[in-house]
Formats: sequence, C-alpha cells, structure tokens
Amino acid sequence: MSDRLILGIESSCDETGVGIVRLGEDGSLELLADEVASSVEEHARFGGVVPEVASRAHLEAMVPTMRRALDASGAELSQIHSIAVTAGPGLAGALLVGVSAAKAYAAALGKPLYGVNHLAGHVAADTLQHGALPNRCLALLVSGGHSQLLLVEGGLANSITEIGSTVDDAAGEAYDKVARLLDLPYPGGPPIDKLAKQGNGCAIAFPRGLTGPRDAKYDFSFSGLKTSVARWVERAERAGEEIPLADVAASFQEAVADVLTAKAIRAAKDLKVDTLVISGGVAANSRLSGLAAERCAEAGIELRVPRPRLCTDNGAMIAALGAHLVAAGAKPSPMDLSTTPGLPV
Ligand code: KG4
Ligand code: ZN
Repeated sequence: MSDRLILGIESSCDETGVGIVRLGEDGSLELLADEVASSVEEHARFGGVVPEVASRAHLEAMVPTMRRALDASGAELSQIHSIAVTAGPGLAGALLVGVSAAKAYAAALGKPLYGVNHLAGHVAADTLQHGALPNRCLALLVSGGHSQLLLVEGGLANSITEIGSTVDDAAGEAYDKVARLLDLPYPGGPPIDKLAKQGNGCAIAFPRGLTGPRDAKYDFSFSGLKTSVARWVERAERAGEEIPLADVAASFQEAVADVLTAKAIRAAKDLKVDTLVISGGVAANSRLSGLAAERCAEAGIELRVPRPRLCTDNGAMIAALGAHLVAAGAKPSPMDLSTTPGLPV
C-alpha cells in the first residue's frame, strides 16, 4: 500500500483549521499543510469567544482555508485518502460548520469520513513533532476550554481514559479572566506570561486549588485562584497601594504551573507511566513548560511538549488523529455523523 494523504478539519472554537498529513506505509506521519484562520480578534472586545460570531467566521473562512492547505501541500483534492473532522467537544454552531464541510467533501469525493474527538486531537498533535507515542503515556491537556489529565494506552486509536479534569474554570480561562482583572488584552495567556517574566512568582502566596488531603487527587480547580487574585487587587486598591502587576502575574502563573505539574507528575508516578505530553494553548506558557521540565527530570519522566503552533487549535492535529485511525484500520463514521458539543474523551 502506498502513502495516504489525510485531511483534517477543525472548527470547534474560534480557529478554522485545515491540515494535511501524509501517512507512510510504516505508520510515520509527515505534516504537509497546517492552515489556520482565527476569529480571535473579533472576540477580543467581548473578552471571550462569542459563539455566533465564531460560527459565522468559520463559514467565511472554511473554503479559503481549505484552498490554502491544498496549495501548501501541493496535493489535489482527488489525492486525499480520508477526511477527519472534529465532531466534539466544542461550540455547537461552530462544530456544525466543520462537520458539514467535511461531509460535503467526503460525499463529493467518495472518501471515508472520520468524526474525531478534539481532545484526543490535541494529544495527536505531539506525534507530528515527536513521533509515535509509547504504549502508555499521560497527557495534560490545558487550553481555554479544557484542563484534563488523560491516560493513553495502546495508541490514540485505542484507549483514552480521563483520570482528572477541572471542576470549574479551565486553566486558559483562568488566564483570560485574570488578564481582564489586570486590564491586559484577550487572550490573556501571552500578556501574563510576558509580564510575569519581570515579576517574582513567590511574591504573593495565591491558593493552590484542590491540593488538600481530602481533595480529588487528579482534579483541578482554578476559580478560587481567580477570586483570590481579584480580592488581592481590590484590597491593594482600597489601601491606595500601587498594584505590583508583574508580581501578581508571576504569582498567579506560579500557582497554575505548580498545581498542573504537581498533579500530572503525581498521576504519572501513581499509574507508573514514564512519558508526559503537555498540549493545548496553555502548554505554550513558559513557566509551565519550565517547571514541568524540572520536575519531570527529577522524577525520571520523559516530557513531550509540541511547539506552540501545534499546541493551539489547528487542523493538522485532527489530520494526525485521523491518520492514527486509518493506520489502525478503524471503521469510518457514517455519513449522518452528528456533532456532539459535550463529547467526552
Ligand atoms: O488550545 P487553545 O488555542 O484553544 C482552546 O481550545 O481553548 O487555547 C487558548 C488558551 C487561551 O485561554 C490563552 O489565554 C491560553 O490558551 N494561552 C496561554 C498562553 N498562550 C495561550 N496561557 C498561558 N500562557 C501562554 N503563553
Ligand atoms: Zn483545543
């Protein structure tokens, strides 16, 4: 059998992504195209993603993004072997645009359609950079919509078990909300990361959520941390003090990175897993990857963090996951595939 080209379509949130991956006979993946159109600027003035605006933007961007991906890959549509698309979780209207487009292409070309899970896609992104996953690994998925610890066994086409998740805000959501409190732009991760470099992460002891002895071992909570930052800033303002913005940003960032890495490493040790993958938009955070590297080295755990471009939402990760399914001989989805906004992993 010769190489197969897998097309991936992503539209679960505010990024319209189309990626093309070459699946080699030996199961290797080569990234041929990764085109993304983002509507993030249209949401910035609202401080968060507006579902209706996102759906409309996907509709406008889908075909041009597809054209750019085909041009970048040098492939013709007729050469595509299979089409993978995010079926959930995500915003209902946004998912519908991607799934409808994928069905239309699959039907017109007579190609198999694979509806895939966005969360598994974030983990698959790493295989584009670091190759196949070991038989067992742990994934920490941290984005604007998710904070999860996943146990992946026997490859991505096989078994993925959620062993922990956030009980309230996602890690990226906490960054976005704290950024708003500090009058920083949306999305809040990059400006907080930058500001924190000039501050002291030990300056303010913000709480580490769900780290008490009776708390769920692998779950996360960030809403108390956000409230604590808000209270700290309000108190300083009332007292007429100048707000040490860099110290607040660094101390908040330290609390998030501390909890995420401590829980991930604890889970890896408990489950006897020696590889940790960190993916999702927050994986781009310099303190998170720095602290994870330190703690993984101490614990003898191999750390894999894909480059930032692969961490945020994109179509290449969906194509990669589709390729893993094709390689494993998975059954395609029916042509009446529906979207599942609350799809579990
Ligand atoms: O994966 P992603 O692009 O989209 C979702 O699926 O949500 O993640 C976006 C999130 C935003 O909340 C953004 O603030 C956060 O990732 N983010 C960061 C950084 N870059 C992006 N958070 C912390 N530090 C960063 N450098
Ligand atoms: Zn995502």
